[in-house]
Amino acid sequence: MSSMSDCDLPPRPLKRSISYNCKNLVRQHLVHVENRLFEMFGDKEKNTIDISRFLLGLTATGMRHSDPRLKEMRENLKKFQDKIAASDHHALNISYDTFMSIISDNLEVIVKAFSSSFVIPDFRGFCHHIEEIYAKCLTNTDGKAAHYIPQLARANPDHWAVSVCTVDGQRYSTGDVNVPFTLQSCSYALNYALALGQLSDVGVHIYVGMEPSGRHYNELCLDYNNKPHNPMINAGAIMTAALLKPDLSAADRFDFVFNMYKRLGGGEYLGFNNAVFLSEKECADRNFALAYFMRENKCFPEGTRLHETLDFYFQLCSLEITAESGALMAATLANGGINPLTGDPVLTVDAVRNTLTLMHSCGMYNYSGQFAFKVGLPSKSGVSGCVLLVVPNTMGICLWSPPLDSNGNSCRAVQFCMELVSRFNFHNFDNLRGHFTSKCDPRMAKAESKAQILFDLLFSAAAGDLSALRRHSLSGSDMQAKDYDGRTALHVATSEGHLNIVKYLLYNCQVYPLPKDRWGRTPLDDASSFGHPDCGEVIIECSKKRGIEIPLPLSDANDFHAD
Ligand code: DON
Repeated sequence: MSSMSDCDLPPRPLKRSISYNCKNLVRQHLVHVENRLFEMFGDKEKNTIDISRFLLGLTATGMRHSDPRLKEMRENLKKFQDKIAASDHHALNISYDTFMSIISDNLEVIVKAFSSSFVIPDFRGFCHHIEEIYAKCLTNTDGKAAHYIPQLARANPDHWAVSVCTVDGQRYSTGDVNVPFTLQSCSYALNYALALGQLSDVGVHIYVGMEPSGRHYNELCLDYNNKPHNPMINAGAIMTAALLKPDLSAADRFDFVFNMYKRLGGGEYLGFNNAVFLSEKECADRNFALAYFMRENKCFPEGTRLHETLDFYFQLCSLEITAESGALMAATLANGGINPLTGDPVLTVDAVRNTLTLMHSCGMYNYSGQFAFKVGLPSKSGVSGCVLLVVPNTMGICLWSPPLDSNGNSCRAVQFCMELVSRFNFHNFDNLRGHFTSKCDPRMAKAESKAQILFDLLFSAAAGDLSALRRHSLSGSDMQAKDYDGRTALHVATSEGHLNIVKYLLYNCQVYPLPKDRWGRTPLDDASSFGHPDCGEVIIECSKKRGIEIPLPLSDANDFHAD
């Protein structure tokens, strides 16, 4: 294999979105990552990297080459390949400088991938378990596909798909993961989240309760306040449909939801199954009865157009996803509403919190209580055999297999969830203090040194990575730990102007607001020096609330001190 230094791209400075202040940190880490990259894919003597091995290595971390966060790398690589195509087809070893110029635009995520800083550090090991569980459930031939409409009754009972997407965009899919199926009542959870985003919880819950019904999902009943019990059963979902953009035309309402779903799924597959829609509409006596019953009981907001609302509800049940796109939707919920691949803030964290709460208590029809007890995770099931499962702050999983049990849940999907939590400590209450469990925590790196943890903490704060910081906090990291220079996560987050991180550290983690680094600088000095007055104001406000005296500013940092 030849080294391609002749055909190298022109060297150019590394473009990093992380600014000057944290360059030291990045540089320090780059040395570490560089060494690892050489160890794994390179030849240190010749100063070359084997690009195809590097790409394979990236896949092993769980990142796909098609990941939107690697767009520039793909383009650079394509340019490079086009350039060398004529001269050398085996140009796998490229000079280190060329390699860096190819990956420089996407350095942050690549550094993260190769520093074992993704939420599931040993992703391959984890996928091995998923594959085993998948195979075990494949032999389960229990259940029958839904038969209330012919389109669902004709489903192939052998279809079985599992797709996983973590909050860091690590992906694994197995089985029939590209076969489309309708969302059915999995749409209820997403519509509820959208309605919360429009009207807030107060606005939504004027019209729908938050109590598990303990009744069949399409039973003709209301709660003791004369509201549908919750948004995860038919009556509640018809109500949610009524609340979504009622002032728009029917077409625009559909477009609104379609676009929001598309963002949740990062632009991946989303379709509409017209045959299912027509069939739903034709076999809808119970849903009509529910709607009229609610109208009789004055449940709807004034001006609700009943038939249009029902049509809208049938349309939303008839939207199609694949297990792949569904996993990304679930991962967006797991990630507090921010799509892990596109970074798009689709839903507010409050909307997600409330949605996960009701998925947890009401998402699995009449099995919801048992599911909460045994699996302990928010999920939503649909009669097409789909289950959206969320492991908060960790991953979204989409499961699909048409045969249903007597509760209307996919037999294989429920078995999968049970197996998953028997191996991993994902149950909501698996991590109680003092509770011994032999289950494994795939979120823990095998042997992370204290220095590595501290580095990752500071790096995440500098990069504005809130989910990584949440993970640190949940796993008991010292959130005010200092590096060799006495710098803390609060220092670096302030220097980079990440206001949300500063607030998170001060108010959620309760870190001390004015720690001094070895030059005597506090985060307040950094806020001033690096031009982030909003961060400075939050630090001052927090210090005042805690009765902490605000020190005189250092000579170069005098903008934000209280009078
Ligand atoms: O409206 C219906 O009855 C169907 N589209 C069923 C939706 C579903 O998945 C059941 N839900 N709770």
